[in-house]
Amino acid sequence: VYCLRKKRIQRNARHFINNFPGKVLYAVKCNPHPWVLDACHVGGISDFDVASLEEVKLIRERYNNSTPYFQHPVKSRSAIRNSYRLHGVRHFAVDHLSELSKVVDEVDDTRGVTVYVRLATPPGGASEHFSDKFGASIDEAVSLLNRVRNTGFKCALSFHVGSQCYDPCSYQTALSVVGKTISRARVPITALDVGGGFPASYPNMALPPLADFMKAIVEGVAAIGLGHEITLLCEPGRALVADGVSVVTKVYLRKGERLYINDGIFGSFAESSFNQFQLPARLVRLDGPIGNGLKPFTVFGPTCDSNDQLPQPVCLPEDICEGDWIEFSLLGAYSNALNTNFNGFRGCMFVDIDDT
Ligand SMILES: Cc1ncc(COP(=O)(O)O)c(C=O)c1O
Repeated sequence: VYCLRKKRIQRNARHFINNFPGKVLYAVKCNPHPWVLDACHVGGISDFDVASLEEVKLIRERYNNSTPYFQHPVKSRSAIRNSYRLHGVRHFAVDHLSELSKVVDEVDDTRGVTVYVRLATPPGGASEHFSDKFGASIDEAVSLLNRVRNTGFKCALSFHVGSQCYDPCSYQTALSVVGKTISRARVPITALDVGGGFPASYPNMALPPLADFMKAIVEGVAAIGLGHEITLLCEPGRALVADGVSVVTKVYLRKGERLYINDGIFGSFAESSFNQFQLPARLVRLDGPIGNGLKPFTVFGPTCDSNDQLPQPVCLPEDICEGDWIEFSLLGAYSNALNTNFNGFRGCMFVDIDDT
């Protein structure tokens, strides 16, 4: 059961909007549940980073006046065509000349479209590095930007420092890559998208406050001489929604210090397990008192697969037993979005909690 705290997400969205010196998009992939989208929207977010045609449709159908930014650097031709023709998408990311050719082929009037050249950023500073998969080198970006300009599109740049970034300097390093690219490309840049990556406060990580990340961005943008002539954008996912959802799971069986619960790495815990994030956990017992002592338990998910095990032991009351419930917090990001139906165990019930 996913327990959604809408007010917390609204508050996170407002906080981001008040502190980021530009436009804040929400990265839909992080949690596309309609209530989560609505909470971001009520919090003041009107525009969205989308990664597929399905996400474009979702946003277009739900919010009339919103602008979807198609920031996935690899898209099918039909996704480019249909998002442009049927859903009015006018912002596309590319990181390779072949992808740019696809956008050129599928768009009628290049002047109305902004193309974001996605830059690779150096590794380090984040739990998940993205630039092995995406992003152009400075040399590649310079030729891409010139081609973008010659084709008639508006030129823009983007990057993503990696998800769960714990070092604000990563944004400054990425911005210096932006600066070098701009000074070599010599084309007018209309927008700069500094991506997502802003972290959530998982217990096993000491993190600087959000203000330090904002400061790094403001200083990094100033250092490369960009001013009000460009639109600055960011596209956070995790930082807006992680603490807005907890997941309540049920204990099916206890075998000594091993617990078997009804959710696991093929469900809500895929991404947190992959990244070894520690999650706050508490026992909920409906019928009786809970004992005092705590001890670490190995926790297994419900499937018949032996990989279905949480990566770290979870500290819980010693007397935990079958029928108890465990609430795991900080599961708003990449949880229900990655939940599979493996072994038929998909459960995606959302309830609305107002405890903020
Ligand atoms: C292009 C893009 N933007 C934004 C995000 C959101 O990142 P985060 O949740 O780390 O803020 C992602 C995540 O995969 C992404 O690929």
